Amino acid sequence: MAFKYQQLAQQVLAEINADKLKAGESLPALRKFARQHQVSLATANQTYDWLQQQGLIVAKAQSGFYVKGQGNVLPLAAPTPKIVSIQHDPSDIIFDILQNALTFDRIGLSNGFLDETLRPSVALQRALKRNAKLANITANSYGHTQGELKLRQAITELMRERLCLVTAEDVLVTNGCLEAVNLVVEQITDVNDRVAIFTPCFSGLLTALQYANRKIIEIPCGPQGPDMQLLTSLFEKGAFKTLIFSAIATNPLGFNLSQQHKKHIASLAKQHKTYIIEDDTFGSLGYGDQESGPAYAYDHDGYIIYCSSFSKDIAPNMRLGWIAAEQFIPQLTRRKISKNVTCNMPSQLAMADYLLSESYPAHLRKLRSTLQLLVMKLQSSILEHFPAGTRVSQPQGGFFIWVALPHSLSAMDIYQQSVKEGICFMPGHTFSMSGEYDHCLRLSVTRKWDDNLEKAIKRLGCIAHSLIK
Ligand SMILES: Cc1ncc(COP(=O)(O)O)c(C=O)c1O
Repeated sequence: MAFKYQQLAQQVLAEINADKLKAGESLPALRKFARQHQVSLATANQTYDWLQQQGLIVAKAQSGFYVKGQGNVLPLAAPTPKIVSIQHDPSDIIFDILQNALTFDRIGLSNGFLDETLRPSVALQRALKRNAKLANITANSYGHTQGELKLRQAITELMRERLCLVTAEDVLVTNGCLEAVNLVVEQITDVNDRVAIFTPCFSGLLTALQYANRKIIEIPCGPQGPDMQLLTSLFEKGAFKTLIFSAIATNPLGFNLSQQHKKHIASLAKQHKTYIIEDDTFGSLGYGDQESGPAYAYDHDGYIIYCSSFSKDIAPNMRLGWIAAEQFIPQLTRRKISKNVTCNMPSQLAMADYLLSESYPAHLRKLRSTLQLLVMKLQSSILEHFPAGTRVSQPQGGFFIWVALPHSLSAMDIYQQSVKEGICFMPGHTFSMSGEYDHCLRLSVTRKWDDNLEKAIKRLGCIAHSLIK
């Protein structure tokens, strides 16, 4: 952020998000604010103006400035510590909803990827052009079986930023994170083995496990993540062969696990000699606490196998991800060769070039603060338009909001109506095999805020109101 007022606004925003400044709370008077931050009155004014324009604070005549919007944020209910067996199969619904999203989603509220305007599209195009010649020269080969060395080296640098020390030998480049997770699941589990996941869970993982004929154990999560006691006891009982989890900006709840919980998971894996899979697809999109890294950073014995990709912060269509692990890379490489040999070479060359161009950290910094702001806007818009009693998540990263409606409402019923008007979202049904989340939905905010977004949320709220019995 270039200007002082923007930096100050960002500080206020961070305090609102961390709940240090609560809804309805008054902000210091302008003069006091200017004194506190040793800036001019004009800069203090600009800061408050900006926060007002973003809809984050309101001015009350004769009274001062107040934090807006989050007043009705109700925390999501804490998880009930139980293991749910499979009650319903959402795979057909998931497929239909993904197809609908491709055809009908005018607004992008169901998107799992960023709009082009928030991606580093220009820099990436330049990198593609710069590497076109090289890609042509290397086009007569499939490339290195583990992926282009230059890209793997760039990944090791990026992993270092995430506090993980790996070498290029420890990395296998994959077609996105989903291929990475699938390969590891096949490697470390067998058909009918039990695989534990956190729910609500990204639907792609549910269907992947179903196709792989693995049994799913769902560990319900609340706003801070899973019940750690429950997780510990499941490890102790040997209740699953592996666990697949995310620690940063989880999809869909958006929580970041605390450093203590990440360490705990790493130590449980070691203690029980259980290989577990960390899906860190959103690892670069945590709003704060970036310094504590993924759980993989705390695993010194090779029990966590790390999977991630560039789909959420750079480009979903490059289809590039990776696995980092101390063990299994040779076996995983052979497994990948048997499926699709290697990854697309022009994509790999351009991605390596982009990562080494050094514009990536600046892109991430800007993206994180943009997303944080967009998520807050979406949050206040939902709370303004949805029925009383609606609860929303308070994400610590990413671009999703999980909405829990009053229990009498079904998100599928809302969806059936809204899809006809080009407003799509992901109904809660698609995030679990338990059938438990019918009153929930996931909304995405993946592009700049505008009237169409506001109108769409308002319309969803109207439909929800009309369905209250
Ligand atoms: C948690 C999670 N893991 C994996 C994926 C798939 O990532 P990729 O597109 O890189 O395969 C997604 C995509 O939405 C996701 O949300």
